[in-house]
Amino acid sequence: MSGWIFVAEAAAIKPGHYETVDLDDSIAAVFNVNGEFYAIEDICTHDGTVLTSGQPIEGDEIVCPRHGARFCVRTGEALSAPAYEPTATFPVKIEDGKVYVRDNRWD
Ligand code: FES
Repeated sequence: MSGWIFVAEAAAIKPGHYETVDLDDSIAAVFNVNGEFYAIEDICTHDGTVLTSGQPIEGDEIVCPRHGARFCVRTGEALSAPAYEPTATFPVKIEDGKVYVRDNRWD
């Protein structure tokens, strides 16, 4: 079981922005969508490209910089070709104004 990993001060991730953090064997991207925080694995399921490259999110969607697949940052769902499989989601918690994420896939 992976523990909670500190991401950033919540106030440092403005709405529409995100921060990435190394987990044990993957990278999480943590998004602020209108004040709510969500985390997905920072990997496009089409061909393994890192999803975040500094581009802004569009509502609750991020567009893969390589071939343009869209993913929901709240659910990890692949919303458009050429990606069809969802990317993983991770639990997020806010404690004392700090954002934490953890990889619960191996619990
Ligand atoms: S690697 Fe993301 S759409 Fe192809």
